[in-house]
Amino acid sequence: MELEEFSKAFEAIYQLAVDGIATAPGRVNLIGEFTDYNDGFVLPCALEFNTQVAYRKRADNKVVVHSLQYPDEFDEFELNDAISAGKSQWGNYIRAVAFVLQRSGAKFSGLDLLIESNVPQGAGLSSSAALEVAVAGAFNEASNLGFTLEQLAKFGQQAENDFMDCQCGIMDQLISAKGLKNHALLIDCLSLVTESIPMPDDLILMIINSNYPRKLVDSEYNQRRLDCEQACTKLGVETLRQATMSALLAAKESMSEHQFKRAHHVISENDRVIKATQALKSNDMNELRQLMAASHHSLKNDFEVTVPATDGLVDICQSALGERGAVRMTGGGFGGAIVCLCRQEDVDVVKNAVLENYEKNFALEADIYVCQVGGGLTLQ
Ligand code: GLA
Repeated sequence: MELEEFSKAFEAIYQLAVDGIATAPGRVNLIGEFTDYNDGFVLPCALEFNTQVAYRKRADNKVVVHSLQYPDEFDEFELNDAISAGKSQWGNYIRAVAFVLQRSGAKFSGLDLLIESNVPQGAGLSSSAALEVAVAGAFNEASNLGFTLEQLAKFGQQAENDFMDCQCGIMDQLISAKGLKNHALLIDCLSLVTESIPMPDDLILMIINSNYPRKLVDSEYNQRRLDCEQACTKLGVETLRQATMSALLAAKESMSEHQFKRAHHVISENDRVIKATQALKSNDMNELRQLMAASHHSLKNDFEVTVPATDGLVDICQSALGERGAVRMTGGGFGGAIVCLCRQEDVDVVKNAVLENYEKNFALEADIYVCQVGGGLTLQ
């Protein structure tokens, strides 16, 4: 939303002018799925869909939150008291961020907050990470806490892990904090070293949301993480980053089927991310197509996080594009969206294929976005 309009909306609610606006984007992951919490590699990019948080410092320790998406709901809590979950689901993300900031020993005052977001929810495009990073940015700026972008991202992740009970990795929050316009970000999740990779000018990024109703996502997600940890124990390594494919194959007999398959996905996916980064640098569609197809196949068969609707969407788009595009599921799985890289002349080919085949076969209507790659956290 335009800053002026958003500032006016804040004033209308609080009868006071804003101090500032923190804006953080959602993301799409090009490749490197479920590798982040295994200390591996990921290659996401930030989107132009974002969450804005208008803030004003209060003289007391109260945090008051309104959202333009949920005008009938609001939340408020005291920073002096122990922070626990409240009634509002979206409000809990703000509580979660305040909780982890407070736990870090940071001293900060209360805020009046107004939230606005155009990140599609439930699509696996990290609407929650965008909210966490923007809120952490607002607290950081309002009280001059001096945290770096990387630290803000870590607070966002801790908010998920220790308050929202989702054992996610660092990818979503780090790309939301550090993304660069028109660039993907290669992240080494072990060292947190990042490299911005320019998106080729003629590469079109499409996201197609399956709108499949996501259920039990967090519990399945956390279970996959446990499978990976158990695989590490069997392999005698601390994280799957240290494991090799030959060591995995040698240990196969000692592992359960799940442990083996999960590790197989992660080890092979790390390799694909490095190759895909090279392919993106050289704008090699054929290589991107093969790597993204292999990633999807592995997510379907080894990590077992796809659903017929996302498998179907990938098939529809890949068949329509042939060798002219690269397609796979993206994000946390169990529904959500697929990502498709293609050239301008094929955008309508993809749209028409989805319109003709998806609803007919899956009784769901997809949302199709042709996206621009946006930048990370900004403070105005
Ligand atoms: C979710 C998590 C991320 C990552 C992806 C899968 O988006 O929040 O940390 O694990 O799933 O790659």
